[in-house]
Amino acid sequence: MPFYSEKVMDHFQNPRNVGEIKDADGVGEVGNPVCGDMMTFYIKVKDNRIEDVKYKTFGCGAAIAVSSMVSEMAKGKTIDEVKAITNDLVAKELGGLPSHKMHCSNLGADALHKAIENYLSKKGK
Ligand code: FES
Repeated sequence: MPFYSEKVMDHFQNPRNVGEIKDADGVGEVGNPVCGDMMTFYIKVKDNRIEDVKYKTFGCGAAIAVSSMVSEMAKGKTIDEVKAITNDLVAKELGGLPSHKMHCSNLGADALHKAIENYLSKKGK
């Protein structure tokens, strides 16, 4: 059995939505205490929906695949729907990760949720 699922390899080799949003409505940055890797998510929100999402990932291949998948899962969703995205859900959507790489999935939803918190705090909610 291959080490990584086809979906992980696809998102690692062709990451979606990579980049930075200069005038983002919310920014969330997290670091992985296990390995020291970092991930930053940027969101644009319109009418309570994620209109655009981008990220920068300074991490391993699994972390890049995770951030790409998270960005696809979040785009177009409402704030409440995005809050319901968990790290476990992201790993499942990717067809699973090897057990010693599960810690890499912890950055994705956490960074996105921090960007949401940042957006809501700016709005005074
Ligand atoms: S080894 Fe650091 S996020 Fe994967």
